[in-house]
Amino acid sequence: MKLTVIGTGYVGLVTGACFAEMGNTVVCVDVDHDKVERLKQGILPIYEPGLEAIVAGNYKAGRLHFTTSLAEAMSGSQLLFIAVGTPPGEDGSADLQYVLGVAREIGSHLGDYAVIVDKSTVPVGTGDKVRATVQQELNRRKLSVTFDVVSNPEFLKEGAAVDDFMRPDRIIVGTDSQRARDILHELYMPFTRNHERILYMGVREAEMTKYAANAMLATRISFMNEIAGLCERLSVDVESVRVGIGSDPRIGTSFIYPGCGYGGSCFPKDVKALIHMAGEQGFKPSVLAAVEERNDAQKHMLFQKITRRFGSQLSGRTIGLWGLAFKPGTDDMREAPSSVLMHALIDAGAQIMAHDPVAMTAAQRELPAAWFDTGQLRFLDDQYEALKNVDAMVLVTEWKPFRQPDFERMRALMKTPVIFDGRNQYDLKKMKETGFEYHGVGREF
Ligand SMILES: NC(=O)c1ccc[n+]([C@@H]2O[C@H](COP(=O)([O-])OP(=O)(O)OC[C@H]3O[C@@H](n4cnc5c(N)ncnc54)[C@H](O)[C@@H]3O)[C@@H](O)[C@H]2O)c1
Repeated sequence: MKLTVIGTGYVGLVTGACFAEMGNTVVCVDVDHDKVERLKQGILPIYEPGLEAIVAGNYKAGRLHFTTSLAEAMSGSQLLFIAVGTPPGEDGSADLQYVLGVAREIGSHLGDYAVIVDKSTVPVGTGDKVRATVQQELNRRKLSVTFDVVSNPEFLKEGAAVDDFMRPDRIIVGTDSQRARDILHELYMPFTRNHERILYMGVREAEMTKYAANAMLATRISFMNEIAGLCERLSVDVESVRVGIGSDPRIGTSFIYPGCGYGGSCFPKDVKALIHMAGEQGFKPSVLAAVEERNDAQKHMLFQKITRRFGSQLSGRTIGLWGLAFKPGTDDMREAPSSVLMHALIDAGAQIMAHDPVAMTAAQRELPAAWFDTGQLRFLDDQYEALKNVDAMVLVTEWKPFRQPDFERMRALMKTPVIFDGRNQYDLKKMKETGFEYHGVGREF
């Protein structure tokens, strides 16, 4: 099949590369000229395990192409995937300007039947807006072309995106058109060979399923963070509680890890967008509002622990920080808890020495240049270098090399052996044995 993927970010690039890997011819389109030029040279705009090899292999084999011209990409393509961003607007609503901009452009070039597949996460009713926008352009061109609009939300996780795309738990296809359904079925066949994973439903139901899934996961995290806060005040180790409740199959073990808050490009904005959708209907989303409130508070929790220990004036103090990305396995800094912590620390006068295995370049692009110029923030290539003479170490992102570090070496490097463990990675007994003062999440003794 020949398909076009519009937007080559985390979702678009993975989608395009994985469909090409299955033998399809894919043209990836992006408005970012530099990104397209770098992709043609095999330079990826993002870090995603396994992606580089798939992109390189398929580009070389002539199945994967990159361009800035949608008109050129669309010719002969029956499937048009929209995978552009839907960032939060000022009022929390999903900003649809990019999605509808693409719809307009599709409408201005469409010549033959095509299935327009919305992969971006969009509010309920966007499918209708995309349809109306494309139709408007066709009317303007005085053309009668049949097309279908399908909602096919993406569930990949950054850090495991290729694996998730290749072996999906489920593929949601929202459509009321049998023709579109047959085309999508054929496209996704290689991904559902051992058992049927495609769930068909209406467009609005598919749009809502994506939001509900992310909101449910965010809710579990915020719920557990709330329990952790209570555990801390009652001298209970939340880690025992986590294991205790996770063994109940009705609850399960996923997404109940207490920590320093969820971040990334999806959970924060999707919870906000759902709250906004509810507001538009005059419906009070009390659970979702609490999920967001708890998460905002959680992102400040590490800073509060640090000031409780060292006082609110941190000038003259140096903090060693492990982990910048919003989670391990990615260089994505969007809504990262590390960013909230660094702003608070620097405002309080602290100096920071930080290390992340892959996100330092992305972080440097996003953080104020003045921090680097003045030396308030330094990035170190080695995780232990970031601990030289520090007053405390903070673990923010649980990358694998941080999980079982050389504690003796750490203690020898640090000025004072104090650890703030934002992801409850370290064993309490080990902390005592190695002589560390330890502050976890929901386990303060
Ligand atoms: N990142 C994730 O883990 C993830 C997972 C599931 C769903 N989603 C959803 O998928 C969508 C895309 O997310 P992302 O993280 O890949 O975004 P992203 O910001 O990484 O990438 C979006 C890309 O679209 C391009 N773009 C914008 N307007 C364009 C246009 N008119 N024509 C061509 N390209 C254009 C941008 O230049 C950018 O490269 C969002 O709605 C997001 O919520 C993301």
